[in-house]
Amino acid sequence: MNVQNTVELSKSTKAKSEWWRGGVIYQIYPRSFQDSNGDGIGDLKGITQRLDYIADLGVDAIWISPFFKSPMKDFGYDVSDYRDVDPMFGSLEDFRVLLDQAHAKGLKVMIDLVLSHTSDQHPWFGESHANRDNPKSDWYVWADPKPDGTPPNNWLSIFGGSAWQWEPRRLQYYLHNFLSSQPDLNFHCTEVQDALLDVARFWLEMGVDGFRLDTINFYFHDKYLRDNPALPAEERNASIAPTVNPYNHQDHHYSKSQPENIAFLERLRALTDEYEGRACLGEVGDAQRGLEIMGQYTSGDQRMHMCYAFEFLEKRALTAPYAKQVFDQLEEKAGDAWPCWAFSNHDVERHASRWDLNDAAIRQHAVLMMCLRGSACLYQGEELGLHEADVPFEKLQDPYGIEFWPEFKGRDGCRTPMVWATQDEHSGFSTGEPWLPVSTAQTERAVDRLEANDQSMLHHYRRAIALRHAHPALTSGAQSNMKQIGPVLTFQREDASEAVFCAFNLGTEAQRVDLPLGDWRVIGQELGGSDGAGSVTLHPAQFCLMAKDKG
Ligand code: BGC
Ligand code: MG
Repeated sequence: MNVQNTVELSKSTKAKSEWWRGGVIYQIYPRSFQDSNGDGIGDLKGITQRLDYIADLGVDAIWISPFFKSPMKDFGYDVSDYRDVDPMFGSLEDFRVLLDQAHAKGLKVMIDLVLSHTSDQHPWFGESHANRDNPKSDWYVWADPKPDGTPPNNWLSIFGGSAWQWEPRRLQYYLHNFLSSQPDLNFHCTEVQDALLDVARFWLEMGVDGFRLDTINFYFHDKYLRDNPALPAEERNASIAPTVNPYNHQDHHYSKSQPENIAFLERLRALTDEYEGRACLGEVGDAQRGLEIMGQYTSGDQRMHMCYAFEFLEKRALTAPYAKQVFDQLEEKAGDAWPCWAFSNHDVERHASRWDLNDAAIRQHAVLMMCLRGSACLYQGEELGLHEADVPFEKLQDPYGIEFWPEFKGRDGCRTPMVWATQDEHSGFSTGEPWLPVSTAQTERAVDRLEANDQSMLHHYRRAIALRHAHPALTSGAQSNMKQIGPVLTFQREDASEAVFCAFNLGTEAQRVDLPLGDWRVIGQELGGSDGAGSVTLHPAQFCLMAKDKG
C-alpha cells in the first residue's frame, strides 16, 4: 500500500470541499440534452428544466460540454469568446439561473474550458494572423516553412493530415492539433497564460465549482519544433484515435505533454485555490503515457485535483486482466494520482455497443465503476443503458467522422438527442427537427418508460450511485489487493471505519471465488449482487460485494 492510500485510510470522512474526491459527475452534451425553444438544438434553459432528473440520479456534479460563443466547427470545442454564451445555447443570464438552481438542488457545476486552442474566429487569432509584428503575433504557434515550402515538421493533426496550416499573410504555418479552424495557442508566451487564467477567474467569480480542462496535456509544444519519432507498429494503440488514423503512427513526444506544462498547471491550481471547494479535472489524451501523465498532473495538492484518462474509453474491453494492468501501472507510476473514470463520453462509441454488453453486463459495469478508486463520470443516456445510435452518412455532422468515413464513423452516434418520452415527437427532446436524428432504437429506453419500472436500468443506476455514497470507503477509501482470478476481478476498498470486498466476473465463463471469512456481510443485493458464504460461483456479469465494520 502506498503513502496516499495510507493517508486515505486515516480519513473516515472527507472534507466538504473535497466533494470531487470519488464524486460522481454527470456529463451533459448541451446540444443534445434538452431543447427549450424548438430550434432542434439543446440549450441552457433545457438543462435547467431537467435539473430535477439529474439531482434524482444522486450524482454530485454536472459537467457541461462547451456552451461558449463558437462557430461550431467542432461543436463548441472551438471557442471564439470565452466569456459569453453562444446565442444558440442562451445567454449569460440563462447560465446564472442554471448555476443557482443547480446549487439549490445540491449539484456542483463544472464547465468545460478549452484552453489549448481557440477558434480561428477568436479576435486573438484575427490579430495574430494579420502580420508578423502585431501585439499578439506570438499568441499562436507560427513557424516558417522548410526551404522546400513544406511544413516545419512532421506533426499530425488528430482530425487528419498535417498539424500545420499555411497562412499567406504571414508567409508562415500555424499549428493546429485538431481542425485547421482550431489554431493552437502558444503557452510559451506568458501573456497567453495570463489571458487564459483571467478567463478561469471570470467563471470562478461567477461561482462555477470547477473545470473540465480539455486536452490538458496539449497546452505546450516543443519550442524547437523537433520531429516526433515514428512509433513501431506493435506499440500503436487506438485509445485516443481510431486505428485508421495515422496519428497513431507517431510517438507524440514533442507535440504535447511537455515538462513546461507543470508550472502552468500550478498557476491554474493556485488561482482555483483562492476560491473555496473548486476542482479541476484535466483530460489527458496520450496513447502511450496516459497514466504516467495523470500521475504527474494529479500528484500532491498543487496541480490538478483529478485527471480523466482514456484507459476505459478504449475499444479494448474492460476485462479482469486489463483492469488489473491499468491499476498496477497507476500504482507504480504514481500511487497518489487521482483518476476520474468514464466508460462513455461525447468522443467515443457508447460502451454498451463498443464492448457489446447485454443489459446484465451494463448493470454490472455500472456497479464496478461505483466501486473503483477514483471519481466517476457518467455520460448522458448511459443511465438508460443506451447503445450507439446509427447515423447515416447524409446526416453526419462531425468533421472527424466525415474525414475517416466509413472506417470510422466519427462521434455523432453518441451525440444524438437524449430520449425523454417514448411517445412524444422527437422523444421529448425538441418540438423542432433535431440537429441529429433521434434514434428510434433508443426511444424504447426513454426516461418515462424506465422511470415507470422500478427494476429498470435507470433505477439500477440510481441504486448503484446510492451504494457508493452509502459507503465512504467506496468514495474515497484506499484500494488494495487487486487480483485477477480467471475472468474475475477482485479488490478491496477501505477507510477508517469500513472495508468493502468487491468481486466482478467480467468474462464469459463461470468462476468460483473465495470470499473473505469473518464478520463480513453481503451488500449490494438490491443491485443484483450475489450472496455467498465461504465462496461463490460468479457467472458472467455477476458480482459480489461484502462489507465489514472496523473497530
Ligand atoms: C474534446 C473533443 C474535441 C477536442 C478538441 C477533446 O478531447 O473532448 O470533443 O474535439 O478535444 O477540442
Ligand atoms: Mg434550442
